[in-house]
Amino acid sequence: MPRYLLNVNARARAVDAPADMPLLWALRDELQLCGTKYGCGKGLCGACTVHVDGQAVRSCQQPVSGVAGRKITTIEGLDPQGRHPLQRAWVKLDVSQCGYCQAGQIMQAAALLKQQPRPSAEQIDAAMAGNLCRCGSYIRIRAAIAEAASKGGAA
Ligand code: FES
Ligand code: FES
Repeated sequence: MPRYLLNVNARARAVDAPADMPLLWALRDELQLCGTKYGCGKGLCGACTVHVDGQAVRSCQQPVSGVAGRKITTIEGLDPQGRHPLQRAWVKLDVSQCGYCQAGQIMQAAALLKQQPRPSAEQIDAAMAGNLCRCGSYIRIRAAIAEAASKGGAA
């Protein structure tokens, strides 16, 4: 089985895996980074969103062979203390309900704020449209992104 050298949350990690193993499986099953969730497995829900070279990526659709050597960030690595402005805003506004979708929501929002530190409501809606929440926490998610942006959310 081939070995892939991954850069995950600023650490070098070796994973022995088939070339077509989804990055999501490598993160969860090989590296025990279980903050990233499996929702649909078809690129449709956003639960598995991570960053690859700063871009929001659906890790269920990304073969591990395609990300060797690239900078991968998961929810565990977004902020060393878990105090990213989005995470603070999430707590302040009590966004999460069951919580299952929320790591993907935060990673999607973090990529948005990196590109657009002060997004409009329309830009937030457009960026977040593909991240589903079965609990319907959409209004609080949008409010928390605006709150984080007002506090310098790209940090
Ligand atoms: S699990 Fe990857 S988009 Fe749904
Ligand atoms: S908080 Fe339950 S699915 Fe989003």
